[in-house]
Amino acid sequence: MTPSEFIQELREAVATHPAVTHPFLRRFAAGGLTRWQIWGYASQHYHLVGFFPAYLEAIADRTSDAEVRRLLREILEDEYMRPESFERSHPALYRRFLRAIGFGEGDWDRVPRLPATRAFVQLHLDMTLRSWLEALGAVGPGHEWAIPLMFPHLLQGIERSLPLAPAALEYFQLHINLDVEHGQVLQESLLRWAATKENQDTIRRGAQRSLEARAAFWSALEEELFPNPSSAVVGYWTSATRS
Ligand SMILES: [Fe+2]
Ligand SMILES: [Fe+2]
Repeated sequence: MTPSEFIQELREAVATHPAVTHPFLRRFAAGGLTRWQIWGYASQHYHLVGFFPAYLEAIADRTSDAEVRRLLREILEDEYMRPESFERSHPALYRRFLRAIGFGEGDWDRVPRLPATRAFVQLHLDMTLRSWLEALGAVGPGHEWAIPLMFPHLLQGIERSLPLAPAALEYFQLHINLDVEHGQVLQESLLRWAATKENQDTIRRGAQRSLEARAAFWSALEEELFPNPSSAVVGYWTSATRS
């Protein structure tokens, strides 16, 4: 496969992956969510948002390709919003949303993390240490290509359930558009390395692992926030408060 055929095939695999077409996202988008359901979702998603720049930093540190490093640093400038201010870094924009839905200062660090949340972060940190190219597959196709397809569902569900000021939702709005650009930039980086079958397999593996962890993350949220009354499965939070 040529590099551009590979990219094309991978784009299709991402768009149809169970993480992107997950029933949790459809259910969330339908709206009618209670405050605690939005709170529960956000308490976990925040940790994924907060760790994302660390993966980019680690890949930039480890890659042997100066051009890939330059492209990653460009994306990091957006993530930190350096020309503006720290208060507009992407994790800071997410905290603005958390405050708007009732989180007190620092509460986001005190909510217990679901096993799927911890597993998601751990998988990505481990991957950046093991193979920067595999990790590039995780942050490019696995994140920046997938996010513009997933986040509209989150935004829609929140908008249909709670009246929030547009400023509180900026994180979501921004990523639906900005990540299309970031996805292009990472595609350029991948094209430089997608010339051999071995590298194509490594990149694909990174994307798949990331999306599998994402699907497990949505499934865990689905179990916690939309428990099926006839199911014997008891959610993590429910079982923690019962015991
Ligand atoms: Fe971001
Ligand atoms: Fe991004």
